[in-house]
Amino acid sequence: MVGTGFYVPERVVTNDELSRYMDTSDAWIRERSGIEERRWASEGTTCAGMARRASEMALTEAGLRPGAVDAILLATLSPDHAFPGTSAFLQRELGLTGIPALDVRAQCTGFVYGLSVADAWVRVGQYRTVLLVGVEIQSTGLDVSTRGRDMSVLFGDGAGAVVLQATEDPDRGVLSTHLHAEGQNAEILWCEFESSASHPRISREALDEGRHYPSMVGKEVFRHAVARMSEAVEEALGANGLAASDIDLLIPHQANLRISQMVQRRLGLTEGRVFNNIQRYGNTTAATIPIALAEAVREGRLERGDLLCLAAFGSGFTWGSALIRW
Ligand code: COA
Repeated sequence: MVGTGFYVPERVVTNDELSRYMDTSDAWIRERSGIEERRWASEGTTCAGMARRASEMALTEAGLRPGAVDAILLATLSPDHAFPGTSAFLQRELGLTGIPALDVRAQCTGFVYGLSVADAWVRVGQYRTVLLVGVEIQSTGLDVSTRGRDMSVLFGDGAGAVVLQATEDPDRGVLSTHLHAEGQNAEILWCEFESSASHPRISREALDEGRHYPSMVGKEVFRHAVARMSEAVEEALGANGLAASDIDLLIPHQANLRISQMVQRRLGLTEGRVFNNIQRYGNTTAATIPIALAEAVREGRLERGDLLCLAAFGSGFTWGSALIRW
């Protein structure tokens, strides 16, 4: 990983502001999720535009021009349009043409899935420099009323990017990635409409019932997230003959501070070895890990040779982990 970057919209939405739109409170949100505020994009802001800003920061850190990028991977569950993929719009925003642009649809695990694809591309020598982005605009798709309060207080908008480049240094780079999914639980955390199986894809009735908003069984998601993220970290450590005590920094997907804390406890890690920023951004889905990574780099939390672990869980269910020698 030769460059990291992030972008979050300027508008800060506090818990107190949310309590003006729905029956909730700062105390409830902080206690259950750890979230204090999140960012919401303004009218006209696009995922591709936010992804471009994060990408430019990552490319600058890497000392590369956009033209050095050989392939683009973009993870999102909130694409700018149904098609084409947001990666195509990002390619255009970066002034690039001809190189492949692929959207990854693995929700909160999208960045880790994308990292696995990028790593494989680089390893087999297909592409030398890969731009990997996680980006979401959740705010335009939330039910900001009491009916949707369990979901809408959790999510925020933002983008994070990483530039991956081939290296001959055997002591540096992605050690391994580990991916999983369990479609049996697809409806426990999902967005039902629009649906191509529905004629038409959205109906007045579905809109009135709010079935175009995301929904979840919160307690089930919580339970699975803690178990699956912990297992995925242990799987990655086992595959590399390492122990939890070898981890210098764990960046868990930022779903809920309580989930991160339970994973931390299960792995026996001290607080200083886990990076959390959900307090300021909420859950930005595919963007949480690359935003956190970019912030961790800027805070000096990673030194050359450190063992970085990423773990994610999300809708699908999907989950996974990665170990990186920094
Ligand atoms: N403000 C105030 N009250 C709320 C609320 C809100 N924003 N959202 C829900 N409530 C209410 C519920 O209606 C319920 O009321 P009741 O007891 O009168 O029925 C009460 O709070 C408790 O709800 P419950 O769902 O049992 O709370 P919880 O302890 O499970 O916490 C979550 C809810 C959503 C914070 C928690 O389940 C969670 O974080 N789950 C994982 C979500 C997640 O991470 N999703 C993305 C994964 S990638």
